[in-house]
Amino acid sequence: MDFYEVVRNRRSFRTYQPEMPEKEKIERILEAARLAPTWANLQGVHYIVVQAPENVKAVWNAIEQDPKFIETPMFIVGVISPNGSGTNKSGEKYYAVDFGICFEHLILAAAAEGLATCWIGYFNEEKVKKVLNIPKKYKVMGITPLGYPIKPKGQVKERKSIEKIVHYEQF
Ligand SMILES: Cc1cc2nc3c(=O)[nH]c(=O)nc-3n(C[C@H](O)[C@H](O)[C@H](O)COP(=O)(O)O)c2cc1C
Repeated sequence: MDFYEVVRNRRSFRTYQPEMPEKEKIERILEAARLAPTWANLQGVHYIVVQAPENVKAVWNAIEQDPKFIETPMFIVGVISPNGSGTNKSGEKYYAVDFGICFEHLILAAAAEGLATCWIGYFNEEKVKKVLNIPKKYKVMGITPLGYPIKPKGQVKERKSIEKIVHYEQF
């Protein structure tokens, strides 16, 4: 699939078929995340692939969102240490930026493989850390289900027009 087609096709899917995605596809998706750029090439993001049904259920319970949202064969959980990236001149830590780039590589690669994802940023972090035995120093920054969507077609969500968001020369 052409890059722009991937970008156009990607959407957040909230219902999934029970079939597990193929191992080679999962590996290619993780490889796309591995190749993402990070501050000073620090590569602080780790990915936890959760496929055992009891672990998938435990992660799902730890997310604590509306129970009708998502039945997925698996999750990928992304973590980074707040010290796993740089600090900019304004004194702000950049780890969330590194994380976002890596996780979006993963999500776009999944779309290129014909797989569905939904970035989940709203979850009970302490519970997720506990069920996956994630060391204290890491922050759970994003979770996505991964699988084949039940409804692959649908309305793409409205976006702001280019005129509203692009500024030439000055804001
Ligand atoms: C950082 C981030 C966090 C998100 N967290 C959630 C979430 O917790 N639950 C959810 O249902 N969707 C979540 N989403 C999905 C957004 O709601 C969705 O991307 C947005 O509405 C645009 O729709 P689309 O992805 O289908 O284009 C998140 C997306 C991003 C990028």
